[in-house]
Amino acid sequence: MSNNEVCDCLSRFKLLILQHSIFDIRYSILIYHMAGLSTRHLLGIKDLNPADIQLIFETADNFKTVLNRPIKKVPSLRDVTIANIFFENSTRTRLSFELAEKRLSADVVNFAASSSSVSKGETLIDTVNNILAMKVDMVVMRHPYAGAGIFLSKHVKAQIVNAGDGAHEHPTQALLDAFSIREKLGEVAGKKVVIVGDILHSRVALSNILCLKHLGAEVMVCGPTTLIPKYIGSLGVKVEHNLIKALNWCDVANMLRIQLERQDIKYFPSLREYTMLYGLNKQILDSLDKDIIVMHPGPINRGVEITSDVADSKQSIILDQVENGVAIRMAVLFLLAGQTP
Ligand code: CP
Repeated sequence: MSNNEVCDCLSRFKLLILQHSIFDIRYSILIYHMAGLSTRHLLGIKDLNPADIQLIFETADNFKTVLNRPIKKVPSLRDVTIANIFFENSTRTRLSFELAEKRLSADVVNFAASSSSVSKGETLIDTVNNILAMKVDMVVMRHPYAGAGIFLSKHVKAQIVNAGDGAHEHPTQALLDAFSIREKLGEVAGKKVVIVGDILHSRVALSNILCLKHLGAEVMVCGPTTLIPKYIGSLGVKVEHNLIKALNWCDVANMLRIQLERQDIKYFPSLREYTMLYGLNKQILDSLDKDIIVMHPGPINRGVEITSDVADSKQSIILDQVENGVAIRMAVLFLLAGQTP
């Protein structure tokens, strides 16, 4: 399919959504089967190529238009059943996926490990196969272990979307982060993004680095030596241990939470010392030569990695990120639904 044909398909799809037509999902899926994603599952950004990311962004642009209308629902995933299975706590990702699925008219079932038969010793594969026996088409899964989504995709028939697997990847977070930068700055290519904090334990950091590099951004990581993995240079990112130097370099600062729940040993003397060296406050922000954009994937620990006046400042796009998460997840689910086994 040529670029012109792809553009034509996208335009027709855009028109259908904008007119709020009750169009046949099979027609749109047929279009995207021809110009679709290169992967059947979304297990990590490493499964996507730059064209996949552009397609997700253009599809999300259209869904964002839908979300800003009085009637926010389209019939795109009518007759598709999606199970959200969360083995780890979540506020944003779980609600965002559920809203995205409902806006697309999918049938949705939710599963929280804490209140399930997992606590009676059932394995992950048995749990998911039991859910799939109830005719579920897609599984959105968050799990504390890295690689859980990859493992599942090899053992069950449903399409798997990784909603965060341990310290490995959080692909939809990276997509919504890059989409928010594109929305704010016009494009991602050529922009300088610093990711600050606990890079070692962060799935958001790894997925962001892979996504931003695909899109042509320059990426730097900043934090204490103990929280920066040794292999990080091989991903093509700069490393800076001085926060002020990093902030003066960047256009965008993505401030990460310290992942205390994944830290088995002490990586720095105290949270107070961490905040003194790596916390972003208004005084630092105002001292910079330019107005940088401040991001945070959430949940925020106010007063640790970021102060309230920065989180709530005009330079912060934290709530835009959350808003964009629904459109991005709609796009991902819609495009994956068009993939064949
Ligand atoms: N950003 C993010 O993954 O937040 P939740 O843990 O609340 O889903």
